[in-house]
Amino acid sequence: MTRTLFVTTALPYANAPFHIGHMMEYIQADIWVRYQRMRGAKVYFVGADDAHGAPIMIAAEKAGLTPQQFVAGIASGRQAYLDGFSISFDNWHSTDSPENTALAQSIYLGLRDAGLIDVREVEQFFDPVKGMFLPDRYIKGTCPKCGAADQYGDSCEVCGAVYAPTDLINPYSALSGATPELRSSEHYFFRLSDPRCVEFLQGWTQDGKLQPGVANKVREWFVTNPDGSGGLSDWDISRDAPYFGIPIPDADGKYFYVWLDAPIGYLASLVNLFGKLGKDVDAFLADPEVEQIHFIGKDIVYFHTLFWPAMLKFSGRKVPDNVYVHGFITVSEEKMSKSRGTGISPLRYLELGLNPDWLRYYIAAKLNSHVEDVDFTPSDFVTRVNSDLVGKYVNIASRVAGFLSKRFDGCLATDLGADGDVLLADLRAQVPVVAEFYETREFGKALREIMALADKVNTYVEAHKPWELAKVEGAETELHQACSTGIEAFRILTILLAPVVPATASAVADFLGTEQFTWDDTAATLGGRTIGRYAHLMQRVDAELVEQLFEPAVAAIEPEPVVTPGGEALADQITIDSFAAVDLRVARIVAASAVDGSTKLLQLTVDVGEPSPRTIFSGISSAYRPEDLVGRLTVVVANLAPRTMRFGVSEGMVLAAGHADAAVEPGIFLLEPDAGATPGMRVR
Ligand code: 2FM
Ligand code: ZN
Repeated sequence: MTRTLFVTTALPYANAPFHIGHMMEYIQADIWVRYQRMRGAKVYFVGADDAHGAPIMIAAEKAGLTPQQFVAGIASGRQAYLDGFSISFDNWHSTDSPENTALAQSIYLGLRDAGLIDVREVEQFFDPVKGMFLPDRYIKGTCPKCGAADQYGDSCEVCGAVYAPTDLINPYSALSGATPELRSSEHYFFRLSDPRCVEFLQGWTQDGKLQPGVANKVREWFVTNPDGSGGLSDWDISRDAPYFGIPIPDADGKYFYVWLDAPIGYLASLVNLFGKLGKDVDAFLADPEVEQIHFIGKDIVYFHTLFWPAMLKFSGRKVPDNVYVHGFITVSEEKMSKSRGTGISPLRYLELGLNPDWLRYYIAAKLNSHVEDVDFTPSDFVTRVNSDLVGKYVNIASRVAGFLSKRFDGCLATDLGADGDVLLADLRAQVPVVAEFYETREFGKALREIMALADKVNTYVEAHKPWELAKVEGAETELHQACSTGIEAFRILTILLAPVVPATASAVADFLGTEQFTWDDTAATLGGRTIGRYAHLMQRVDAELVEQLFEPAVAAIEPEPVVTPGGEALADQITIDSFAAVDLRVARIVAASAVDGSTKLLQLTVDVGEPSPRTIFSGISSAYRPEDLVGRLTVVVANLAPRTMRFGVSEGMVLAAGHADAAVEPGIFLLEPDAGATPGMRVR
C-alpha cells in the first residue's frame, strides 16, 4: 500500500541564520523523506520560521525594524542553506501568517469549548520604563544563594542555583535597567493536569511508538511525588501586550505564548502548501491513513510529546503518529559556542566549495535511531569521506567506466558471466536489509552495510583486473563482462546511497542515461544499454580546506608594520551584526552643567527622541564650556547599560574623537551630525 506522510522538522526561531545543528536535523529528516519517496510514498515535507515571541520582538526593536521586517530579513536567507544542502522541503512558511492565526485561534476555541482553558491572576515583574511584563531571561539581579551580581531571572551561572525571578536581590530589567515592579494580570492556562489530558497522554506516550529513551523520560513527567510536586502542570499560554504573537480571541490585549502557536505552524505550512496545490487539506488531515511525523531535538520533547498531542486531541484533530528525537551536534566533542567560534557555519562550508553530499554522508554515518549526540571531528570527516565515499564507492566507476566507452562504445553487456551474476545477487539480497535501516533511521548501519557491499564489488574488480584484461588479446568478452558488472553494481550502490547523497546520485543517473532512481530499480539491469562518458563524480576532501571551516571569517593578516592611526592600533575586526548591536542615535543636548567634584566630567541632559530626556556624564569638560553645548546635536550610544557613577547614573555615552595621547595631539571633538538630523534618528 502506498504510504502518505506528513513530515516536519522543528521550526527555527527567525532571529538568526541556520547553524550546523539545524542542518543536522534537516539532513536527518531529508534522508528519511527521500528514502520514503524512493519507495513510492507520497510525502509532504514542510518547514517554517518560528516568528513570534518576546526575544524576536526585542531584537527587532533593537535593530530599528518592525518584527515583520526583522523576520522577513532572516527568512530571506533560508533558501540558500536548504538548496545548498539539497533539503527537499515541499514548502517553507511562517508562524506569522494568516493560516497560523486562523488555526491557532480555532485550536484554542476548541480547547476552551472542551473546558480545558482556565483564567487565573498571575503576579509578574513589569518594566515601568518599557511598559511591559518581563520574560524571566530579561530580569537580572544578584543571586539569592551565592550573591553573584548580574545573574538571570531563572538561574545563577555562577553557583547553578535555580530560583524564581522574584527571589533575585536588587532585580533590574535587562532591557531598560529599571527596577521592575510586581504587577498582576490575567493569564490563560491550558489545563494539562485535567484527568482527560493525563489519561490520553499516558496512552499516547507509552504505547510503544516513541523511542524507548524518550518514553522513559516522558514517564517521569507523569509521576507525582509524595510532597505533591511533579505530575503534569497546567500551561500558561498567554502573554500580555506588547507582544509579537497571535491575539487570543475575545481577550483584549492578550496573545498566545509563542510555544502555543509554534507547532501549529506545522499545520499552517501544510495548509499553505495545499492552497498552492489546490488540494483539500481538511480531507487530508481527516484521513486516518496519513502518517504525521515530527523530527525534533532532545531539548523540545516536552512540547512535542505532551502539549502538542494534547492540543490536537482536545481540539478534535488528528494527533501525531510519531515524534523522532535526535541528540545535539558537537564539534570535536565540544558543545558549539558561537562566541568561541568553534561552530561550523553551513554557509561557509558551501562558500569554501566543500561538497554538500560529504556533510550529508558524514552526518548520516553517525546517526542512529537513538537520542545520541553526534560529533563532527574534522580529521574523522576527511578520513571517512575519502576512504568510504571516494575510496570505496566512486572508485568503482572510475576503475571500469573508461574501458566501456573506449572499447565498447559505452554499451553494457547483457551476459555478465557467472561471478558477475553472483555479485549482483549478493548485492540485491542485502537491499531489504538496507531498506529496514533507512526506515528505522539507523543511517549509520545502512551506510556500513552499503560500504561492505562496495568492498565486495572492489574485490570483484581486483580479481578481474580490467586494466590487465584490456592489454590481453582475446579477453574482450571477459573485459566487457567485468566492466559491465562493475557498472551494474555501482548503479545498485548508488540507488542505496541516493537518500544520503542525492546530488551525486542524480549525476550518476545522468551519466548512466537513466531516470532518477526509485528503490525498485535495484532489481533492474542496464544490460544492452549505452551509458554516457564518465566524468569524475567526486573529489577527495582536501583537509586544508576543512581546516578553513574553523578559521575566523577573515584570514589571519601577516603582521605588517604596525600602523597606529590616532595613536592606537585598530581594534579587532567585528561583524556587521556586532556593529548593529550598538544602537547609535542622534541626540540634542538640552542642558549641560559642570559636575561638582569632577574636573573631567560634564553632566548633559540629552533628548534622544524618547518621552523624557536622559542624563549622561561625559568626560569632555576640558574641551567644552557647558553653555556652548546647549542646543547642539550629537551622537550617543543609546543602548549602553546604565552606569552608576559617584555623581549619579549615566544613561548612555556621547561620542567624541581624540588622539590616544593628548600630549601628542590635544583636543576632544564632539561628533555632530549633518544639518537636518533630528533627535532619535538611528546612526548606521
Ligand atoms: O526550539 C526552537 O528552536 C523552537 N523554535 C522550535 C519550535 S518547534 C515547533 F513547535 F514549531
Ligand atoms: Zn549564585
